[in-house]
Amino acid sequence: MNNFSIKDKVAIITGAGGVLGGSIAQSFVQAGAKVVAMDIRQENLDARVQELRDLGGQAIGIVGNVLDKASLEKAAQDILAQWGSIDILLNIAGGNMPGATLEPTQPFFEMELPSWDKVTNLNMNGTVYPCYVFGKVMAAQGSGSIINISSMAAFAAITRVPGYSAAKAAVSNFTQWLACEMALKYGDKVRVNAIAPGFFIGDQNRAVLINPDGSLTERSVKVLAKTPMKRFGDITELNGAVQFLCSQAAGFITGVVLPIDGGFSAFSGV
Ligand SMILES: NC(=O)c1ccc[n+]([C@@H]2O[C@H](COP(=O)([O-])OP(=O)(O)OC[C@H]3O[C@@H](n4cnc5c(N)ncnc54)[C@H](O)[C@@H]3O)[C@@H](O)[C@H]2O)c1
Repeated sequence: MNNFSIKDKVAIITGAGGVLGGSIAQSFVQAGAKVVAMDIRQENLDARVQELRDLGGQAIGIVGNVLDKASLEKAAQDILAQWGSIDILLNIAGGNMPGATLEPTQPFFEMELPSWDKVTNLNMNGTVYPCYVFGKVMAAQGSGSIINISSMAAFAAITRVPGYSAAKAAVSNFTQWLACEMALKYGDKVRVNAIAPGFFIGDQNRAVLINPDGSLTERSVKVLAKTPMKRFGDITELNGAVQFLCSQAAGFITGVVLPIDGGFSAFSGV
């Protein structure tokens, strides 16, 4: 089963200070990868890198902004100077934002456009720019694996989150586009895929899924009704899929958006 290994691979994880990025970073160091934890917030990063080193892993932290090309280019230089290659890019930075979620009765026509701009910028360009900078290194190496984060919101409409949904649909499409571009121009060793997580309780969505008293909101009752497994995901359930897609075991897989959703996207609800 050695072809599932990511040992000694240099993996950049954007948004590594956050919930999903942290969980995947831990699983990556445990699998022997060399992790570059990148986040815009220094305070998120220091604790993360310490945690990864305490697990016995090789990890460095880089403060970087996925929306700033110069910051990404500086990171690429530093990583190449330290570890000599960039084998894996996990574009985890992203997420919804409070101002970009419509109130239940708020018409779309009263949506704050600056919030639309912010959420689409982070989720779409925050994936595209790191692919532009680190993907160039992979193209020159002739090898590499990129994993983007799409969402259930990219498959079918989810009420109240128009900007996040549009941006994640763009991430799915861009994943397919870049997969083809890389394979056509740089060969079969540069692969680009995405995962589409279903519903995992995190800081960004806790308030819309769980009431202050711990009971399910009306929205989360609807989510579970359309989830054949009848539960929310545990963030550790993303780790194996990401490792698989980055490994040689997935050597002929490029351009897929893999749902990890307890069957949500497969089920009509009937
Ligand atoms: N939590 C879920 O249920 C869920 C479901 C589907 C998809 N996702 C997606 O997974 C990804 C991570 O979600 P999460 O719950 O871990 O979010 P999170 O808020 O816990 O973490 C996001 C991290 O990204 C960092 N970040 C924000 N802007 C940045 C920038 N410009 N440059 C660099 N770093 C930046 C933040 O500082 C934070 O540490 C997002 O793309 C989100 O849309 C999450």
